[in-house]
Amino acid sequence: MSSPTNHRIRLAARPHGEPVATDFQHDEVPVPSPGAGEVLLRTLYISLDPYVRGRMSDARSYAAPMEIGDVIVGATVSEVVESGADGFAPGQVVLSYGGWQEYSVEPAERLRRLDPSVAPVTTALGVLGMPGFTAYAGLLAIGAPQPGETVAVAAATGPVGSAVGQIAKLQGARAVGIAGGERKIERLRALGFDEALDHREADLPARLAAAAPDGIDVYFENVGGAVWDAVLPQLNEFARVPVCGLAANYNATSLPEGPDRSGQLMGAVLSRSLTLRGFIQREFVPSMFPDFLRDMTAWVAEGKVRYTEDITDGLDRAPEAFVGMLKGANLGKAIIRVA
Ligand SMILES: NC(=O)c1ccc[n+]([C@@H]2O[C@H](COP(=O)([O-])OP(=O)(O)OC[C@H]3O[C@@H](n4cnc5c(N)ncnc54)[C@H](OP(=O)(O)O)[C@@H]3O)[C@@H](O)[C@H]2O)c1
Repeated sequence: MSSPTNHRIRLAARPHGEPVATDFQHDEVPVPSPGAGEVLLRTLYISLDPYVRGRMSDARSYAAPMEIGDVIVGATVSEVVESGADGFAPGQVVLSYGGWQEYSVEPAERLRRLDPSVAPVTTALGVLGMPGFTAYAGLLAIGAPQPGETVAVAAATGPVGSAVGQIAKLQGARAVGIAGGERKIERLRALGFDEALDHREADLPARLAAAAPDGIDVYFENVGGAVWDAVLPQLNEFARVPVCGLAANYNATSLPEGPDRSGQLMGAVLSRSLTLRGFIQREFVPSMFPDFLRDMTAWVAEGKVRYTEDITDGLDRAPEAFVGMLKGANLGKAIIRVA
């Protein structure tokens, strides 16, 4: 065993606004031992995902919050070190949920074996994992884009948004991507989006109207905020809005100033027969995950869906990389390489 201790990062305090260093506590404890039916895992990669910001808060949500002192949660790609379970042997690589630590013990039934000959193992955290599935399920089951329709998505270079735009293209739709900063706009063009708009530049509403001259039929909502304000007037009659995430709000500590616009929103929903449908990806796992793995694995292998990974070295740097990801410092799927 390369390390006698397990370095962990735990929740020290609930953040107020953007998380800061003192919200995280680093410690070292003995490496745990697996019991019957369990496996000791060494963490290779940790997925950084926006939902973890919600789990750091105790506000009501779809999942229970972390408690103070808990290891920060997260999906991991890990290597089996010691196994107390049939079917798992040292050296095997698995998708697990070990969180922000070097070692974890997990029940075997929570692990998914990964085959490095099919795709790089990190893809299990991104394009071939939960974020890619979120794009696939939300777009196809709720957005249901038709050939010739226009699909818009923000956070469009992230693992969810980039898959949304590329799957939309495979359905014969036009893809309008919205992202922050010049290098992300270049990436959207390289990925084949028909239009790429920088939300940090002025006049997003006018530029969006020009980029979607026939209006928007599907808006895959990842961010909310000013982007949603620009999209709403462009939504066509019978437009579908899979409401996937609201990244612009995750660090907010109060409501934005200004008039109450809920009446305006409901008026648009009514008069244009809009469908706004929130979803958590796990709803679609039983019905769509096998199809997703089959389709997405093929699309990635054929180069029809491309992906970008933003890998930061070192468990110690997870807090800063996580905070950066929430405000757009990442280009592609944000991952920590631990071992
Ligand atoms: N419902 C579900 O089951 C489910 C599952 C997975 C993910 N999600 C949600 O899907 C969304 C995308 O997730 P991801 O993993 O692909 O994350 P991501 O795109 O890698 O990271 C979040 C991105 O949000 C953008 N952003 C942050 N603040 C913004 C603002 N004020 N205005 C516009 N954009 C802003 C940033 O991109 P730019 O630099 O381009 O602005 C940032 O990179 C998130 O909202 C996440 O919570 C939902």
